[in-house]
Amino acid sequence: MNIAIKLGTLELKTPIVCASGTFGYGYELKGLADFKSIGAIIAKTVTLEPRAGNPEPRIFETECGVLNSVGLENPGLESFIKDKLPLMDKLSCRRIVSIGGFSIEEYESCLKKLQAHSSIDAFEINLSCPNLRLKKMVSQDATATRQVVGALRKLTQKPLFIKITPEVTDITEIAKAAQDAGADAISLVNTFFSMSINIETGKPHLGNIYGGYSGRAIKPLALYRVWCVARCVKIPVIAGGGIEDASGAIEFFLAGARAVSLGTINLVYPDAAREILKGIKGYLRRKKINDINELHDTLPQM
Ligand SMILES: Cc1cc2nc3c(=O)[nH]c(=O)nc-3n(C[C@H](O)[C@H](O)[C@H](O)COP(=O)(O)O)c2cc1C
Repeated sequence: MNIAIKLGTLELKTPIVCASGTFGYGYELKGLADFKSIGAIIAKTVTLEPRAGNPEPRIFETECGVLNSVGLENPGLESFIKDKLPLMDKLSCRRIVSIGGFSIEEYESCLKKLQAHSSIDAFEINLSCPNLRLKKMVSQDATATRQVVGALRKLTQKPLFIKITPEVTDITEIAKAAQDAGADAISLVNTFFSMSINIETGKPHLGNIYGGYSGRAIKPLALYRVWCVARCVKIPVIAGGGIEDASGAIEFFLAGARAVSLGTINLVYPDAAREILKGIKGYLRRKKINDINELHDTLPQM
Protein backbone atom coordinates (compact mmCIF):
# COMPACT_ATOMS: atom_id res chain seq x y z
CA MET A 1 0.00 0.00 0.00
CA ASN A 2 1.36 3.45 -0.89
CA ILE A 3 0.94 6.10 1.74
CA ALA A 4 3.59 8.50 0.45
CA ILE A 5 2.34 11.85 -0.79
CA LYS A 6 3.84 14.88 -2.51
CA LEU A 7 3.58 18.53 -1.53
CA GLY A 8 5.00 20.35 -4.51
CA THR A 9 8.37 18.68 -5.09
CA LEU A 10 8.59 17.39 -1.52
CA GLU A 11 7.78 13.73 -0.97
CA LEU A 12 6.56 12.70 2.49
CA LYS A 13 6.69 9.03 3.47
CA THR A 14 3.34 9.40 5.25
CA PRO A 15 0.61 12.03 4.92
CA ILE A 16 0.84 13.05 8.59
CA VAL A 17 2.60 16.23 9.69
CA CYS A 18 3.02 17.57 13.21
CA ALA A 19 1.74 21.14 13.36
CA SER A 20 3.92 24.09 14.30
CA GLY A 21 4.03 24.96 17.99
CA THR A 22 2.73 21.62 19.22
CA PHE A 23 5.75 19.38 18.65
CA GLY A 24 8.67 21.58 19.67
CA TYR A 25 11.57 21.08 17.29
CA GLY A 26 10.86 17.37 17.07
CA TYR A 27 13.95 16.06 18.84
CA GLU A 28 12.39 16.66 22.29
CA LEU A 29 9.81 14.01 21.41
CA LYS A 30 12.32 11.28 20.59
CA GLY A 31 11.33 8.14 22.45
CA LEU A 32 7.76 9.44 22.89
CA ALA A 33 6.64 9.59 19.26
CA ASP A 34 6.97 7.16 16.37
CA PHE A 35 8.89 9.06 13.71
CA LYS A 36 8.23 6.28 11.16
CA SER A 37 4.58 7.35 11.16
CA ILE A 38 5.32 11.04 10.73
CA GLY A 39 5.86 12.43 7.23
CA ALA A 40 7.16 15.80 8.43
CA ILE A 41 7.42 17.94 11.48
CA ILE A 42 6.85 21.67 11.29
CA ALA A 43 9.05 23.39 13.86
CA LYS A 44 7.77 26.07 16.24
CA THR A 45 7.56 29.37 14.33
CA VAL A 46 10.87 31.22 14.38
CA THR A 47 11.24 35.01 14.12
CA LEU A 48 14.27 37.16 13.31
CA GLU A 49 14.65 38.36 16.91
CA PRO A 50 14.09 36.26 20.05
CA ARG A 51 10.60 36.61 21.56
CA ALA A 52 9.70 36.12 25.20
CA GLY A 53 6.05 35.57 24.30
CA ASN A 54 2.90 36.83 25.99
CA PRO A 55 2.22 37.26 29.73
CA GLU A 56 1.26 34.07 31.56
CA PRO A 57 -1.02 32.15 31.78
CA ARG A 58 -0.70 31.27 28.10
CA ILE A 59 -2.66 28.04 27.89
CA PHE A 60 -6.15 27.35 29.16
CA GLU A 61 -7.89 24.05 28.61
CA THR A 62 -11.66 23.94 28.08
CA GLU A 63 -14.05 20.98 27.83
CA CYS A 64 -13.32 20.37 24.17
CA GLY A 65 -10.36 22.48 23.14
CA VAL A 66 -7.45 24.65 24.18
CA LEU A 67 -6.99 28.41 24.28
CA ASN A 68 -3.41 29.55 23.81
CA SER A 69 -1.70 32.90 23.69
CA VAL A 70 1.92 31.77 23.53
CA GLY A 71 2.73 34.79 21.36
CA LEU A 72 5.42 33.12 19.26
CA GLU A 73 7.90 32.61 22.08
CA ASN A 74 11.09 31.47 20.38
CA PRO A 75 14.87 31.89 20.70
CA GLY A 76 15.21 33.95 17.52
CA LEU A 77 16.79 33.02 14.21
CA GLU A 78 20.46 33.00 15.21
CA SER A 79 19.98 30.70 18.17
CA PHE A 80 17.55 28.54 16.17
CA ILE A 81 20.23 27.98 13.52
CA LYS A 82 22.96 27.33 16.09
CA ASP A 83 21.11 25.25 18.70
CA LYS A 84 17.94 23.76 17.21
CA LEU A 85 18.59 23.07 13.55
CA PRO A 86 21.52 20.68 14.10
CA LEU A 87 19.29 18.56 16.37
CA MET A 88 16.42 18.61 13.88
CA ASP A 89 18.87 17.38 11.27
CA LYS A 90 18.96 13.99 12.96
CA LEU A 91 15.19 13.37 12.69
CA SER A 92 14.10 10.57 10.39
CA CYS A 93 11.28 12.56 8.80
CA ARG A 94 11.04 15.70 6.69
CA ARG A 95 11.86 18.97 8.43
CA ILE A 96 9.77 22.02 7.70
CA VAL A 97 10.74 25.34 9.25
CA SER A 98 7.97 27.79 10.11
CA ILE A 99 8.83 31.47 9.70
CA GLY A 100 7.01 34.38 11.34
CA GLY A 101 7.56 38.11 10.93
CA PHE A 102 6.23 41.62 11.42
CA SER A 103 7.17 43.03 8.01
CA ILE A 104 8.03 41.72 4.55
CA GLU A 105 11.67 42.55 5.28
CA GLU A 106 11.68 40.36 8.40
CA TYR A 107 10.23 37.40 6.51
CA GLU A 108 12.80 37.99 3.76
CA SER A 109 15.75 38.18 6.18
CA CYS A 110 14.75 34.94 7.86
CA LEU A 111 14.28 33.10 4.59
CA LYS A 112 17.59 34.36 3.18
CA LYS A 113 19.48 33.15 6.24
CA LEU A 114 17.75 29.76 6.39
CA GLN A 115 17.69 29.09 2.68
CA ALA A 116 21.28 27.76 2.57
CA HIS A 117 20.69 25.02 5.17
CA SER A 118 20.42 21.69 3.41
CA SER A 119 18.67 20.05 6.38
CA ILE A 120 15.55 22.17 5.75
CA ASP A 121 13.20 20.44 3.34
CA ALA A 122 10.59 23.17 3.07
CA PHE A 123 9.30 26.38 4.64
CA GLU A 124 5.93 27.07 6.16
CA ILE A 125 5.26 30.79 6.20
CA ASN A 126 3.11 31.66 9.18
CA LEU A 127 0.82 34.48 8.05
CA SER A 128 -1.72 33.70 10.73
CA CYS A 129 -0.68 34.01 14.37
CA PRO A 130 -3.84 35.25 16.16
CA ASN A 131 -2.38 36.51 19.44
CA LEU A 132 0.15 39.17 18.46
CA ARG A 133 -2.14 42.16 18.86
CA LEU A 134 -1.62 43.12 15.24
CA LYS A 135 -4.21 45.32 13.57
CA LYS A 136 -4.48 42.64 10.92
CA MET A 137 -2.77 39.32 10.20
CA VAL A 138 -1.19 39.17 6.75
CA SER A 139 -3.53 36.38 5.69
CA GLN A 140 -6.56 38.54 6.48
CA ASP A 141 -5.72 40.58 3.40
CA ALA A 142 -5.36 39.10 -0.09
CA THR A 143 -3.10 41.91 -1.35
CA ALA A 144 -0.72 41.60 1.61
CA THR A 145 -0.70 37.81 1.23
CA ARG A 146 0.20 38.15 -2.45
CA GLN A 147 2.98 40.62 -1.64
CA VAL A 148 4.63 38.54 1.09
CA VAL A 149 4.39 35.25 -0.81
CA GLY A 150 5.60 36.89 -4.05
CA ALA A 151 8.62 38.41 -2.29
CA LEU A 152 9.56 35.11 -0.63
CA ARG A 153 9.01 33.09 -3.79
CA LYS A 154 11.81 35.04 -5.46
CA LEU A 155 14.25 34.00 -2.72
CA THR A 156 13.97 30.23 -2.67
CA GLN A 157 13.59 27.14 -4.82
CA LYS A 158 12.56 25.13 -1.77
CA PRO A 159 8.87 24.35 -1.31
CA LEU A 160 6.91 27.21 0.27
CA PHE A 161 3.79 26.34 2.23
CA ILE A 162 1.58 29.22 3.31
CA LYS A 163 -0.31 28.96 6.60
CA ILE A 164 -3.47 31.02 6.65
CA THR A 165 -6.01 32.07 9.24
CA PRO A 166 -9.61 30.87 9.30
CA GLU A 167 -10.61 34.33 10.61
CA VAL A 168 -11.68 35.88 7.31
CA THR A 169 -14.89 36.39 5.39
CA ASP A 170 -13.71 34.50 2.31
CA ILE A 171 -10.82 32.12 2.89
CA THR A 172 -10.73 31.04 -0.77
CA GLU A 173 -9.72 34.55 -1.82
CA ILE A 174 -6.65 34.38 0.47
CA ALA A 175 -5.72 30.85 -0.61
CA LYS A 176 -5.94 31.84 -4.29
CA ALA A 177 -3.77 34.92 -3.66
CA ALA A 178 -1.10 32.70 -2.08
CA GLN A 179 -1.31 30.21 -4.94
CA ASP A 180 -1.09 32.92 -7.61
CA ALA A 181 2.00 34.40 -5.91
CA GLY A 182 3.81 31.07 -6.10
CA ALA A 183 2.92 29.00 -3.01
CA ASP A 184 3.51 25.26 -3.31
CA ALA A 185 0.83 24.34 -0.76
CA ILE A 186 -1.72 25.97 1.52
CA SER A 187 -1.71 25.04 5.19
CA LEU A 188 -4.86 25.55 7.25
CA VAL A 189 -6.30 26.15 9.73
CA ASN A 190 -4.47 28.17 12.32
CA THR A 191 -6.42 28.82 15.51
CA PHE A 192 -9.65 30.82 15.95
CA PHE A 193 -9.81 34.00 18.08
CA SER A 194 -11.16 33.09 21.49
CA MET A 195 -11.38 34.05 25.16
CA SER A 196 -12.55 32.67 28.47
CA ILE A 197 -13.27 34.46 31.77
CA ASN A 198 -12.89 33.30 35.37
CA ILE A 199 -16.22 34.43 36.86
CA GLU A 200 -14.86 34.49 40.44
CA THR A 201 -11.97 36.87 39.74
CA GLY A 202 -13.68 38.57 36.82
CA LYS A 203 -10.42 38.21 34.90
CA PRO A 204 -9.68 36.42 31.63
CA HIS A 205 -8.01 33.01 31.94
CA LEU A 206 -5.27 34.10 29.54
CA GLY A 207 -2.72 36.75 30.50
CA ASN A 208 -3.09 38.20 27.00
CA ILE A 209 -6.91 38.40 27.52
CA TYR A 210 -7.59 36.51 24.28
CA GLY A 211 -5.84 33.88 22.23
CA GLY A 212 -6.31 31.18 19.62
CA TYR A 213 -8.65 28.20 20.00
CA SER A 214 -7.67 24.73 18.82
CA GLY A 215 -8.52 21.09 19.40
CA ARG A 216 -11.62 18.93 19.08
CA ALA A 217 -14.14 21.80 19.09
CA ILE A 218 -12.79 23.40 15.92
CA LYS A 219 -12.81 20.28 13.73
CA PRO A 220 -16.11 20.94 11.89
CA LEU A 221 -15.15 24.61 11.42
CA ALA A 222 -11.75 23.64 10.02
CA LEU A 223 -13.16 20.89 7.81
CA TYR A 224 -15.57 23.29 6.10
CA ARG A 225 -12.79 25.78 5.36
CA VAL A 226 -10.49 23.03 4.05
CA TRP A 227 -13.25 21.80 1.74
CA CYS A 228 -13.80 25.37 0.44
CA VAL A 229 -10.07 25.92 -0.18
CA ALA A 230 -9.36 22.48 -1.69
CA ARG A 231 -12.08 23.05 -4.30
CA CYS A 232 -10.64 26.34 -5.46
CA VAL A 233 -6.86 25.83 -5.60
CA LYS A 234 -4.75 23.49 -7.71
CA ILE A 235 -1.90 23.20 -5.22
CA PRO A 236 -2.04 20.69 -2.35
CA VAL A 237 -3.68 21.48 0.95
CA ILE A 238 -2.14 20.56 4.31
CA ALA A 239 -5.16 20.40 6.56
CA GLY A 240 -5.96 20.14 10.20
CA GLY A 241 -7.83 21.53 13.14
CA GLY A 242 -9.05 19.27 15.91
CA ILE A 243 -7.88 15.96 14.44
CA GLU A 244 -7.66 13.41 17.25
CA ASP A 245 -8.10 10.09 15.51
CA ALA A 246 -7.99 8.30 12.16
CA SER A 247 -11.62 9.01 11.27
CA GLY A 248 -11.00 12.72 11.85
CA ALA A 249 -7.98 12.58 9.55
CA ILE A 250 -9.91 10.67 6.88
CA GLU A 251 -12.64 13.32 6.90
CA PHE A 252 -10.00 15.88 5.98
CA PHE A 253 -8.67 13.70 3.13
CA LEU A 254 -12.22 13.33 1.84
CA ALA A 255 -12.63 17.11 2.00
CA GLY A 256 -9.62 17.40 -0.33
CA ALA A 257 -6.49 17.45 1.86
CA ARG A 258 -3.24 15.86 0.66
CA ALA A 259 -1.69 15.82 4.12
CA VAL A 260 -3.18 16.16 7.59
CA SER A 261 -1.68 18.09 10.47
CA LEU A 262 -1.84 17.09 14.12
CA GLY A 263 -1.70 19.93 16.62
CA THR A 264 -3.34 19.99 20.04
CA ILE A 265 -3.55 16.18 20.21
CA ASN A 266 0.27 16.12 20.36
CA LEU A 267 0.13 18.04 23.65
CA VAL A 268 -1.74 15.21 25.35
CA TYR A 269 -0.68 12.23 23.25
CA PRO A 270 2.62 12.78 21.42
CA ASP A 271 2.41 9.33 19.82
CA ALA A 272 -0.92 10.14 18.14
CA ALA A 273 0.57 9.85 14.63
CA ARG A 274 1.20 6.11 15.11
CA GLU A 275 -2.43 5.29 15.97
CA ILE A 276 -3.82 7.63 13.35
CA LEU A 277 -1.65 6.19 10.57
CA LYS A 278 -2.63 2.66 11.63
CA GLY A 279 -6.29 3.66 11.40
CA ILE A 280 -5.83 5.32 8.00
CA LYS A 281 -4.18 2.16 6.64
CA GLY A 282 -7.00 0.03 8.04
CA TYR A 283 -9.56 2.26 6.35
CA LEU A 284 -7.75 2.11 2.98
CA ARG A 285 -7.55 -1.70 3.26
CA ARG A 286 -11.26 -1.94 4.08
CA LYS A 287 -12.12 0.28 1.12
CA LYS A 288 -9.71 -1.70 -1.13
CA ILE A 289 -7.66 1.40 -1.96
CA ASN A 290 -3.96 0.73 -2.62
CA ASP A 291 -2.72 4.28 -2.73
CA ILE A 292 -3.71 7.16 -0.47
CA ASN A 293 -3.46 9.46 -3.49
CA GLU A 294 -6.21 7.46 -5.18
CA LEU A 295 -8.48 8.34 -2.29
CA HIS A 296 -7.83 11.96 -3.07
CA ASP A 297 -8.03 11.62 -6.86
CA THR A 298 -11.34 9.79 -6.85
CA LEU A 299 -13.20 12.06 -4.47
CA PRO A 300 -16.94 11.97 -4.89
CA GLN A 301 -18.27 15.34 -6.07
CA MET A 302 -19.49 17.18 -3.01
C1 LIG B 1 0.19 25.81 22.15
C2 LIG B 1 0.09 26.08 20.68
C3 LIG B 1 1.12 26.76 20.04
C4 LIG B 1 1.03 27.01 18.66
N1 LIG B 1 2.06 27.68 18.04
C5 LIG B 1 2.02 27.85 16.69
C6 LIG B 1 3.12 28.44 16.01
O1 LIG B 1 4.15 28.80 16.58
N2 LIG B 1 3.01 28.60 14.65
C7 LIG B 1 1.90 28.20 13.95
O2 LIG B 1 1.86 28.36 12.72
N3 LIG B 1 0.85 27.62 14.58
C8 LIG B 1 0.89 27.43 15.92
N4 LIG B 1 -0.16 26.82 16.54
C9 LIG B 1 -1.33 26.40 15.75
C10 LIG B 1 -1.24 24.90 15.37
O3 LIG B 1 -0.10 24.66 14.57
C11 LIG B 1 -2.51 24.46 14.61
O4 LIG B 1 -2.56 25.13 13.38
C12 LIG B 1 -3.80 24.73 15.38
O5 LIG B 1 -3.62 24.45 16.74
C13 LIG B 1 -5.00 23.93 14.85
O6 LIG B 1 -4.78 22.55 14.90
P1 LIG B 1 -5.22 21.60 16.14
O7 LIG B 1 -6.66 21.88 16.43
O8 LIG B 1 -4.94 20.20 15.67
O9 LIG B 1 -4.35 22.00 17.27
C14 LIG B 1 -0.10 26.57 17.93
C15 LIG B 1 -1.12 25.88 18.58
C16 LIG B 1 -1.04 25.62 19.95
C17 LIG B 1 -2.15 24.85 20.62
